[in-house]
Amino acid sequence: MAWTISLLCITWALSVQSAPIDERRHRVLLVSFDGFRWDYDRDVDTPNLDKMAADGVKAQYVTPPYLTITSPTHFTLLTGRYIENHGVIHNMWFNTTTQEKKPYYQTQFVNQWWDNGSLPIWITAQRQGLKAGSIHFPGTAASYNGEVASIQEVEPLLYNYKNETAWRENTDKVMSWFRDQDLDFVSMYFGEPDGTGHRYGPDSPQIKEMVKQVDRTVGYIRHMAEQRGLTDSLNIIITSDHGMSNVYRNGLVEEITLSKIPGFSFRDLSFHIVDFGPSGMLLPKPGKLEKVYTALKNAHPHLHVYKKEEMPEHLHFAKNDRILPIILWSDPGYVINGYFPVQFHNGEHGFDNQEMDMKPFFRAVGPSFHKNLEVGPFETVNIYSLMCHILGIKPEVNDGHLDNVKHMLVTSTTERGIQVNVLQNTFTGVAAVAGFLVVVFVLMTSHAVIKNKRKKDKTSENSKQIPETEFTKQTSF
Ligand SMILES: *[C@@H]1O[C@H](CO)[C@@H](O)[C@H](O)[C@H]1NC(C)=O
Ligand SMILES: *[C@@H]1O[C@H](CO)[C@@H](O)[C@H](O)[C@H]1NC(C)=O
Ligand SMILES: *[C@@H]1O[C@H](CO)[C@@H](O)[C@H](O)[C@H]1NC(C)=O
Repeated sequence: MAWTISLLCITWALSVQSAPIDERRHRVLLVSFDGFRWDYDRDVDTPNLDKMAADGVKAQYVTPPYLTITSPTHFTLLTGRYIENHGVIHNMWFNTTTQEKKPYYQTQFVNQWWDNGSLPIWITAQRQGLKAGSIHFPGTAASYNGEVASIQEVEPLLYNYKNETAWRENTDKVMSWFRDQDLDFVSMYFGEPDGTGHRYGPDSPQIKEMVKQVDRTVGYIRHMAEQRGLTDSLNIIITSDHGMSNVYRNGLVEEITLSKIPGFSFRDLSFHIVDFGPSGMLLPKPGKLEKVYTALKNAHPHLHVYKKEEMPEHLHFAKNDRILPIILWSDPGYVINGYFPVQFHNGEHGFDNQEMDMKPFFRAVGPSFHKNLEVGPFETVNIYSLMCHILGIKPEVNDGHLDNVKHMLVTSTTERGIQVNVLQNTFTGVAAVAGFLVVVFVLMTSHAVIKNKRKKDKTSENSKQIPETEFTKQTSF
C-alpha cells in the first residue's frame, strides 16, 4: 500500500515537473517604425522608449544593409541576409527589357521578386512547428516556395500610414493573435516616421510630433502585451529599416543633374533608375559602359560612381544579377536627378550605410533580454539570428552571427540554471509534502500492523524505510 502511494506521489511530482518548461516558451514580436533614425529621441520627450530601455536593452544605434531603402532592408531583418544575397535589391520591381517598373506597393505582390532563394523567418518557423503572422511588413504579401505566413495582413493601396487609431487597432489585433491564436512570431510594420521625415525633413517640428506618436504607440504595445498576460513569454524588438537625412536645393548646393554632365547621355543607356533620392542604377547599351562610367566618375564631388564589380566590399551590394552594371549614390544633402531636378522631399534615405544619418534605433524587452543594458552598435543583419535563437528554431543559411548580439540575451546557461533551480525547488517542495504523507501513511499502517502482529513481525520497521529511500533517489535526480 505504501509503495503504491509513493509511486503515485512520484508520478504526480514528475508531471508537475514538466509543466513549467512549456510555459517558458519564448515568443517574438518584431516591430518596425519606418525611417526612425537612431537619435530621434534625443530632443523629444519619449517616456515610453526610455522605460523600454530601462526594462530591457537599448543599442546605441544599428547599421542597416546598403541599399538603405525600405523593402530591401526589411527583407534583411526577415532573412538575415545582405541585400545582394536575398535578391530584393530595390523597392521597385523592374524589367530592363520592357522598361517596366512597379512602385513599392505593386512590387509587394510580385512573388518572383521576393521569393528569390531566401526564406523569411515566418516560413522557417512554421516548418519547425511554430506559428507565425505578419501585418503590413514588407514581404508579407508574397509566397515563398508556395508558403505564406499563416496569418497575414497587407494594407490596402490607399492607406493612411499615420493614423494613430489604426495603429492601436492593429496592436490589439496582433496581441489577440498571440493570445487567442497562440502565435510564436509576428512582424509588424508602421509606415512612420518615414513619411513625415521625407516631407518635412528630420529636424522639423512635424517629425518631433511623429516621434511622440511612435513613443505613445510603444507604450500602448507594451501595455496591451501586459493586459493580455503576455509579459512573461513575449519578447518585443523595436527597430527600423534606415534613418533620414536633410536634402538641400534651391541654390544652397550645386545639385546633381545627370543630363548636365559633359559627355554623359541618356541615349547611351538601355535602362536606368534615377530620380529616386540619393541612389541610382544604370544599364549602358552594349559597348557604352566605359563611356558612361568615364563621363560620370569624378563629375561631381558629391556623386559616387561605381562599376558593379568595383563596389566597396562593406556595402555588400554587387553580387546579384539584378543589380545593374553601374551604381550611383550621392552624399548626404544631395539627391541624384536625371533630366531635371524633379525631387521635392526635404528628407531622404538611400545613402551609404556608414553615414550616421542612415542608422536606425533598436530597443528590445522581454524574458530573453537583459534589463537596463545599453549595448554598442551592431548590424541589423544579425537580428535574424537573434530571433531564431529566442524562438528556438534552426536558422537558414544567413549572413548574421549570434555572437554579435548574444550579449543582449540572458545567457542560455544562466537561463537553464534558473529553470533548473525553479524545477528543483518545485520538485523538492512536492517531494517533501509527498514524503511526509507517505511517512504518515506508513506510520499509521504499520502502527495498525504492529498492533496486530506485535510479537512476531519485525520487518515493519524496514518497510517504513524503503519508500523514503526511493524518494531520496528521485529528488537528487
Ligand atoms: C522581361 O521581359 C521580357 C520580355 O517580355 C521577358 O522575356 C523577360 O523574361 C522579363 N524578365 C524578367 C526578369 O521578368
Ligand atoms: C532570382 O531571380 C533571377 C531573376 O531576377 C532569376 O534568374 C533567378 O533564377 C532567381 N533565383 C531563385 C533562386 O529564385
Ligand atoms: C483612422 O482609423 C480609424 C480606425 O481604423 C478610422 O475609423 C478613421 O476613419 C481613420 N481616420 C483617418 C483620418 O484616416
